[in-house]
Amino acid sequence: MSPDAFKQQAAEHAADLVEPGMVVGLGVGSTAIHALNRIAARIRSGELPGVLAVPCSLAVENAALAAGIPLTTLEDHPYIDLTIDGADEIDPYLNLIKGGGGALLREKIVAQASRREIIVADASKLSPRLGERWPLPIEVLPFGWGAQAAFLESLGAAVVLRRNPDGSAYTTDQGNYVIDANFGPIDSPSFLATQLDARAGILAHGLFISLATDLILAGPQGLQHLTPPATSESGT
Ligand code: A5P
Repeated sequence: MSPDAFKQQAAEHAADLVEPGMVVGLGVGSTAIHALNRIAARIRSGELPGVLAVPCSLAVENAALAAGIPLTTLEDHPYIDLTIDGADEIDPYLNLIKGGGGALLREKIVAQASRREIIVADASKLSPRLGERWPLPIEVLPFGWGAQAAFLESLGAAVVLRRNPDGSAYTTDQGNYVIDANFGPIDSPSFLATQLDARAGILAHGLFISLATDLILAGPQGLQHLTPPATSESGT
């Protein structure tokens, strides 16, 4: 099977956990889009009356509307039953690096509002330690972004301001910048998350600590449905 076929297998398995009347979070990326498509097909076939969705990005909002998925907001539905989202890197405790697609702030808002945060991925996303494979995306306010870059360097990261192909600064759906901060392997993701959370001007970082409730992983070993181990890196 190709990597995309594994992504599709994992995402469709998660989409089959959606039940009638649920409020569902729709994640971002090439894996999560398979879940969106499957949910749309189940809605069209009449299997999922009353389902409403909260998209994690403007692009996903457009995809959901085009696919005929009814949308809602966190104002009308502040609690989400189940979110299906992808990840860039997944450690053995199911802590994550997210934000490769630039949607980390909305993804984290949706994840924190969700009773279940189901991560769907192919097996290539597994990593012994976060940061071994991906820099950490950090959404910053354009005002003073250089000070945030210097702060991240003081914490040991090599930093790059994310840019569009034409060289202009990439901006998120909220109009903010993204700094990709390469820390190398991160010894304590929860400690780093605390340091980043305390910094004004950093609006979100891609460390998702103890937020995933489920991991549905597809790969050559087959399909696995995992939950976090009893003891997490964050000590909870
Ligand atoms: C989006 O900001 C990310 O958090 C995505 O969920 C992540 O990049 C996964 O994308 P793929 O499923 O395309 O690998």
